Amino acid sequence: MPWQTRECDVLVIGAGGAGLRAAIEASAEGASVTVLSKSLLGKAHTVMAEGGMAASMGNVDDRDNWRVHFSDTLRGGQYLNNWRMAEIHAQQAADRVRELEAWGAIFDRTKEGRILQRNFGGHKYPRLAHVGDRTGLEMIRTLQDHGIHQGIDFLMETTVLEIIKDGDRVSGVLAYDRERGRLHLVHAKAIVMATGGIGRAFKVTSNSWEYTGDGHALAYRAGAELVDMEFVQFHPTGMVWPPSVRGILVTEGVRGEGGILKNSEGKRFMFDDIPPLYTDQTADSEEEGWRYVTGDKEARRPPELLTRDHVARKIVKEVKAGRGSPHGGAFLDIAWIKEHLSDAEGHIRKKLPSMYHQFKELAGVDITKEAMEVGPTTHYVMGGIKVDAETQMSCVPGLFACGECGGGLHGANRLGGNSLSDLVVFGRIAGASAAKFASEHGDTSINEDAASDIEAAALAPLERSSGESPYAIQYELQDVMQDLVGIARTQPELEQAVERIADLSRRAATTSAVGNREYNPGWHTALDLPNLLAVSEAVARSAAGRRESRGAHSRVDHPEKDEQLGTVNTVVRRLDDDSMEMAHVPVVGVTEERQAIVKEMG
Ligand code: FUM
Repeated sequence: MPWQTRECDVLVIGAGGAGLRAAIEASAEGASVTVLSKSLLGKAHTVMAEGGMAASMGNVDDRDNWRVHFSDTLRGGQYLNNWRMAEIHAQQAADRVRELEAWGAIFDRTKEGRILQRNFGGHKYPRLAHVGDRTGLEMIRTLQDHGIHQGIDFLMETTVLEIIKDGDRVSGVLAYDRERGRLHLVHAKAIVMATGGIGRAFKVTSNSWEYTGDGHALAYRAGAELVDMEFVQFHPTGMVWPPSVRGILVTEGVRGEGGILKNSEGKRFMFDDIPPLYTDQTADSEEEGWRYVTGDKEARRPPELLTRDHVARKIVKEVKAGRGSPHGGAFLDIAWIKEHLSDAEGHIRKKLPSMYHQFKELAGVDITKEAMEVGPTTHYVMGGIKVDAETQMSCVPGLFACGECGGGLHGANRLGGNSLSDLVVFGRIAGASAAKFASEHGDTSINEDAASDIEAAALAPLERSSGESPYAIQYELQDVMQDLVGIARTQPELEQAVERIADLSRRAATTSAVGNREYNPGWHTALDLPNLLAVSEAVARSAAGRRESRGAHSRVDHPEKDEQLGTVNTVVRRLDDDSMEMAHVPVVGVTEERQAIVKEMG
């Protein structure tokens, strides 16, 4: 079958919030743009950021401003963030919300008609612009509607196999479509990677089948560096029962609307230990209202809204102490607000419609009357392709990254709601920079021999008559990552994980997939494996190298923070012999001016 070929100035890989926003901007700058999406339009993980988009608009509390947001983001990230990215993000997020509104996005409103903002973990003031618990979906809908009218060329259900380079610079990709297994050669002057996360490397995850670390791995193999891959976010509240839905997200918006966590003894265990880092938030407890009434003098702000890393660890602690819910989680209760609100049922159904239906239909639980069972689920990777804050370009000329597959903004732990704002703030910058790069740099040529080699490697699993099932390797990898590289880590387990991943990589090179090229999920799994394995190795090696506990990276054998490691990021890169090198490099963008803002904000 011949390759289907197309040319463009800017190729965007991924059609979630970041990819769509990048495509819109590149197109607005006059570039011809092609978007490749592994899945169908509208199905990106962006829709799993349900509770809202963080932006310091100050609509609910006018004490909020970008400096507080900047400072909260750094504190949540335990100061390992790229400080310049955190600054740009905090400064531009509110404009991106207003832009979405101008493009037709619907938001919930305050009584005065302003965009309503809700509380989320680690944000000092109510900051999340939202529409019920469907904010990510609304963002995607709006960006799709806007982008589709700009003449952007979309190829859906098309997965990139490998990046092709012309010298140091990227020049295109070879991809395949799921429907017919046809190969597509896309020749581009610049590429924006916006492929999302790596959740499918773990057994329990909120991510759907597409999130196999493709962008991270493709960029890594093309010579880009990955930063802070040890920091994987385990969202504290995923469904735990029934087994078929384990891991599906239960939005933090439930806690933002007043939901509380209890153990099997009915105790609100989150009051047990509030990290000293957060006790200053008592300053916010002056506000009236049931959401803040807890009676605890030390932290009157609801402790359920501490950062996700902390809440997830607290749930695991209760389960390990034998105080978990029947299926190994904790109880999340929003129904209790009826003690404080006359129309509690109406309020819950209005503010959390997806959660109401999700629990009713999948678990037979009416959340207006009963508590939900929840537990941690792999949700997000803070680590990603290392990029320049001003342009979002990686160290590979012409290769840009934004959204979850880009690294730097979130440091050791991302605050909820900062992902939706990240997508549009840095999607816009990546799109504009890629268009500029394409217009300022000449044409490239496609190395057809390299493309033929990629094709041969991709078809090999179909041609092998015997070989291991790709599913067996994927399941084994998920067990390794869940059991040895999960929420609580130790050196021996991490080293064992690195060895097991190496063994799985050897076995993955000889898998076989039965059937032909049309809609063949076994073959697709075989093609996902090199990416899953590369990102898993990066996570395990980076975690083994960080002998301290910080943010989402929790080491049972090194429970304290290490001062020295608090000033460095972990970087991995691929060496010529295909091995992975890990190094620690100084945190980027720390200036006296920015430090002064953090100090001023307390
Ligand atoms: O809980 C949530 O709604 C997720 C939001 C996020 O990851 O930003």
